[in-house]
Amino acid sequence: MMRPTVSDHRSAPVVCGNPQIARDWVHAKITASERVALVPTMGALHAGHLELVRNAKLLADHVVVSIFVNPTQFGPGEDYQRYPRTFDDDLQALEQEAVAMVFAPTGPEMYSDRFSTYVSPPAVSEPLEGKFRPEHFRGVCTVVLKLFNIIPAQVAVFGQKDYQQARVIEDMVRDLDLPVTLAVMPTVREPDGLAMSSRNRYLNPVERMKALAISQSLRRAAELYAGGQRSAAELESAIQETLQDAAVERIDYAAVVDPVTLLPFDRDIPLERKTDSGLPPTPVAVALIAAHVGSTRLIDNLLLT
Ligand code: PAF
Repeated sequence: MMRPTVSDHRSAPVVCGNPQIARDWVHAKITASERVALVPTMGALHAGHLELVRNAKLLADHVVVSIFVNPTQFGPGEDYQRYPRTFDDDLQALEQEAVAMVFAPTGPEMYSDRFSTYVSPPAVSEPLEGKFRPEHFRGVCTVVLKLFNIIPAQVAVFGQKDYQQARVIEDMVRDLDLPVTLAVMPTVREPDGLAMSSRNRYLNPVERMKALAISQSLRRAAELYAGGQRSAAELESAIQETLQDAAVERIDYAAVVDPVTLLPFDRDIPLERKTDSGLPPTPVAVALIAAHVGSTRLIDNLLLT
């Protein structure tokens, strides 16, 4: 895998791994009153990532995509070593999307051997993923803050697929007064409903079928909610039942919680506030799942409106 420090071809993106060079490139655009959007990724790009890039293009003059498999967000025994690395294919796909720059640092370019400063993540990181992957959001916040400093884009685009991650980053941005606007884009799904994920490529054909139960169980909760069910516990049981019927190997959580705090409701899900504004209804709850299918841990979520 060749990763030149800087290369600038006709429509090919600038490829850069050096933080200072990347920052200078972005500064030059901003000084010329041009808008830059950042799409942070760990590579192994799929149609969901490319949709984020297309949305980013609507928000800025130049799109920068970062590709970095961030070691600090993987816990012991997780899939850091195994995580798919498909840099050449990713670059080709990003060239098709006319991305301006790909920031693809090496490990030492991101973390010097004396690196020792970490972000303490906000409270919303503590439930759900926080219980099962205790150091995960510390690593995510640290790398995302570093990316925001290296690529000082006006806007950064994330996917709703990682709902808790998006909430954590929103709170970090607010709490630390970071000068970036966040855009969170809807989850892109396969035609049968499976949420797109770089980890789907770990699934064998039998597991791929079984994994469908995750989006199906979320849809079942949404149907029950639409039919008037307002008990989070009942909705959670319905999700669990669908997952168990499909014999998924393990459910880390199947939760219906407050969409802002991600904490359980004290009582039934509150009634939706009706507005005459014509805007989409504000979500009153979010259903989130983390489940193991074979040896692959998948997450998905659905807003209940
Ligand atoms: O969502 C991801 O791919 C990663 O968590 C992110 C935001 C790129 C940080 O490494």
